[in-house]
Amino acid sequence: MNDRTLFEKAVHDNAFRVLISKEELRERIRELGRQITADYRGKEPIMIGVLNGSFVFIADLVRAIELDLEIDFLKISSYGNELTSSGRVQMLKDINADIEGRHVLIVEDIVDTGLSIKFLEEKLSALKPASLKFVTLLIKREIAKVDFDIDYVGFEIPNEFVIGYGLDHKQILRNLPAIYVMD
Ligand code: IMP
Repeated sequence: MNDRTLFEKAVHDNAFRVLISKEELRERIRELGRQITADYRGKEPIMIGVLNGSFVFIADLVRAIELDLEIDFLKISSYGNELTSSGRVQMLKDINADIEGRHVLIVEDIVDTGLSIKFLEEKLSALKPASLKFVTLLIKREIAKVDFDIDYVGFEIPNEFVIGYGLDHKQILRNLPAIYVMD
């Protein structure tokens, strides 16, 4: 049948290969939560999710962290509907919180070329936070060019286009519960 949705094809027809299962995601996020809880004990960090892709990850991550924490979001331009990076990053929605003197954790879905995270590092470090760290669920280590530490990494993945768990293909498939490779 060709009236199946891409979601149905992914979940029911095995049309896409599962790269990281629901269970693997759950387990790794639990570990990241424990690590962040230990590292920030006694502090009240502010976690900033990078929209749109990080919304699922941050929702699970914050529930794995046993601290008083704040959440804010910003939005930057990414690929649009392309499968390759345009090479330019723009701030589409800035944070509302004042982060001067705060412990800030940026939460990304994926570091691909590293352009977005570099842009955010420059932009947010200028606002004088007490500390600035990065969490990313995924990183394509082969191609990411980042000249600073990414403090918390969920999974290193090969250079393939992935979807699900917040990551989109033409703005859909973010609601897939696992991470799939789209060939
Ligand atoms: P970077 O600036 O090249 O590191 O790309 C970061 C952004 O591109 C991510 O936050 C995603 O929105 C998007 N992106 C990069 N790789 C993928 C992918 O494999 N699937 C879906 N989105 C991706």
